Amino acid sequence: MQCSWKAVILLALASIAIQYTAIRTLTSKPFQLCPVPSPQNCGLLGGPGTESPIEGRAGCDDYPYFSFNASRKTHIMVLATTRSGSSFVGQLLNQHADVFYLFEPLYHVQTTLIPRLSHSRNAADRRVMLGASRDLLRSLYGCDLYFLESYIKPAPANHTTDKLFRRGASRALCSQPVCDAFGPTNANVEEGDCVKKCAALNMTLAADACREKRHVAIKVVRVPEIGDLRALVEDPRLNIKVIQLVRDPRGILSSRIETFRDTYRLWRIWRATGRRPYNLDLSQLTVVCEDFLGSVSTGLSHPHWLKGKYMLVRYEDLSRNPLLKTMEIYDFLGLSMDKSVEEWIQTNTRGSTELSAKHKYGTVRDSAANAESWRLKLSYDMVEYTQATCQKVLHQLGYKAVKSAEELKNLSLSLVQDKTFVPFS
Ligand SMILES: *[C@@H]1O[C@H](CO)[C@@H](O)[C@H](O)[C@H]1NC(C)=O
Ligand SMILES: *[C@@H]1O[C@H](CO)[C@@H](O)[C@H](O)[C@H]1NC(C)=O
Ligand SMILES: *[C@@H]1O[C@H](CO)[C@@H](O)[C@H](O)[C@H]1NC(C)=O
Ligand SMILES: *[C@@H]1O[C@H](CO)[C@@H](O)[C@H](O)[C@H]1NC(C)=O
Repeated sequence: MQCSWKAVILLALASIAIQYTAIRTLTSKPFQLCPVPSPQNCGLLGGPGTESPIEGRAGCDDYPYFSFNASRKTHIMVLATTRSGSSFVGQLLNQHADVFYLFEPLYHVQTTLIPRLSHSRNAADRRVMLGASRDLLRSLYGCDLYFLESYIKPAPANHTTDKLFRRGASRALCSQPVCDAFGPTNANVEEGDCVKKCAALNMTLAADACREKRHVAIKVVRVPEIGDLRALVEDPRLNIKVIQLVRDPRGILSSRIETFRDTYRLWRIWRATGRRPYNLDLSQLTVVCEDFLGSVSTGLSHPHWLKGKYMLVRYEDLSRNPLLKTMEIYDFLGLSMDKSVEEWIQTNTRGSTELSAKHKYGTVRDSAANAESWRLKLSYDMVEYTQATCQKVLHQLGYKAVKSAEELKNLSLSLVQDKTFVPFS
């Protein structure tokens, strides 16, 4: 986009809106909820009054994570960035019979608080988003799904909505008792079928289903760095385990160019013409690399607060050896892998193409077979540019730079160095 006066005005308006939101949110209610479990401080963030989140319940005291059994429940977080294979990893957890899975609930926070500036690095903007995100995650790990309602547009009526982002990606939300459409079978329901055939989502039933499951897993692509989660990780009422998923930034870039066609338009122009547009938004690349670098440096430096709670996974390793890597992940989580997980891996990593490209955020298309397909899609000068920009993080994560177009296109030459990232135990 040219930096016209229109853009300047738009930007100014947007920043006013954000500041307004920030001030309102900060003054209406603090971000830190539930320092002591009580119904008062578990209300809806900025919502209409502080109602008890669960009808007929006393409040926080009844939440699973405040109960005696708290330590038994594992609160799993897949920390990733868009187009890094997080849907795939999410599914590896979703398939487990004891796991209640949510696909990127922070989408609703972002669309509500920061509708236009998804790539903004503005500090106020970021603070608002992170504060709200931590609160929401804390509530969701406690199965308080009502908390999410204040971010869903239009606001759910009678605790019912058909607007939950990617509801169909969650097995628990597509099967009984939450959805009756498919009877008592626990078979895997296609995401589209779930959305089409299930009645609007009853959040009360969904929260019940969450409580029934032993563990809660949430996929998060809207938290830039693991350090931003420290307050959550240290919360004694939670038992968080973070799986940080990383991927070669060159692969992420390529995948985003294909997927987010408007946002990455200039990169496509570059690819098509061989010439880099002068107004290319470089931050679309640097942000990924900076966040990885920050996050991974923190994680691998083994700060005490992450002890026993952190595992780094390279998407490429998972792609090469999905079963083995998945077993390692389950091992780290302290869960036993069940048969349905194994079956899902079998079906989804065989490189079958008939299911692919059904959905922009689909898992199959992005699974094992094509972790390195970016090498055939990006031009050499784009790769060279990315390598220069992301040099540090490539090195840190063990991704090799190429020195020529021939090397780039020669797939028998792996660009993924053998590197072991043992979980921090
Ligand atoms: C803990 O959970 C188990 C089942 O998961 C249940 O049988 C037991 O009664 C619970 N204990 C307490 C003290 O809530
Ligand atoms: C919510 O439930 C009440 C009572 O059952 C009903 O009167 C009302 O129409 C419902 N609202 C919507 C939007 O469905
Ligand atoms: C949602 O489920 C709860 C629990 O079964 C039920 O009491 C409530 O009436 C349902 N809500 C709607 C709008 O159907
Ligand atoms: C690709 O790389 C392999 C391994 O280094 C090499 O043996 C082969 O000759 C290369 N192929 C081409 C076409 O350069």
